[in-house]
Amino acid sequence: MLKRIDVISLFPEMFEALKHGITGRAIRNGLIAVDVVNPRDFTRDKHKTVDDRPYGGGPGMLMKAQPIKEAICSIRERSAGKEPSAGKEPSAGKEQSAKVVYLSPQGQPLTQDIVKQLSSTQQLILLAGRYEGVDERLIEHYVDYECSIGDYVLSGGELPAMVLIDALIRLIPGALGHNESAVNDSFYNGLLDYPHYTRPDNFEDESVPGVLLSGDHKKIEQWRLKQALGRTWQRRPDLLENRQLSEEQQLLLQDFIQQFVR
Ligand SMILES: C[S@@+](CC[C@H](N)C(=O)[O-])C[C@H]1O[C@@H](n2cnc3c(N)ncnc32)[C@H](O)[C@@H]1O
Repeated sequence: MLKRIDVISLFPEMFEALKHGITGRAIRNGLIAVDVVNPRDFTRDKHKTVDDRPYGGGPGMLMKAQPIKEAICSIRERSAGKEPSAGKEPSAGKEQSAKVVYLSPQGQPLTQDIVKQLSSTQQLILLAGRYEGVDERLIEHYVDYECSIGDYVLSGGELPAMVLIDALIRLIPGALGHNESAVNDSFYNGLLDYPHYTRPDNFEDESVPGVLLSGDHKKIEQWRLKQALGRTWQRRPDLLENRQLSEEQQLLLQDFIQQFVR
């Protein structure tokens, strides 16, 4: 189970945003440790250079491999209980237990299944890129997994890293309060979430579905499952394509579809 996330970023202060809400509470309660290191602290020249021009020309700059490599080694050495030693040859590599995830528009699209898989690792090292990205050799030698948060390009990997961290923390037992649960969240069981209502029971002449006021927990559970199936069918039919529905689920979905087309 995930215990620690180390982030490598040129803008550590951006991760202050994680101090709020559910993520902040989980960190304060010691359910997960999140630390950010700046590759600038691992440069060796007096200007603390982290970027350089791309070979072959072209626009933009690239993040240099060496400061990132040393940041990864330092995180691994600290996790192994050793003091980081400057200039030492890497004891790191892809064989090490902490997985290095590079947030990149060229990576695998992030899904709840991938979040679940990553949450079973004890320690993750997230690499947030900047500029035109990272020297390819660093990716080849040190990155285990590339992950994209969508088919669009952002200016840096910090927001994608925080998206991943937030999704990971929601899955840590105890991170959500008593009244919150990831189990009903969209995608957790391969379905979209059912619709939710709160007080007042009448808003702009529209009432809350009667079953939710009935107090009959079995019926409420069934209604919610039917809505979750129906919503998924309406909005994300692709999620149902490879899914084997139980007999009860098939009946509920048929019922939803009949009411919908009537
Ligand atoms: C301007 S982007 C570089 C884009 C790169 N030239 C390309 O086209 O693949 C800078 C950094 O932002 C991050 N980034 C941008 N879009 C992303 C996305 N959709 N998912 C994850 N990370 C992203 C990556 O860390 C990337 O190195």
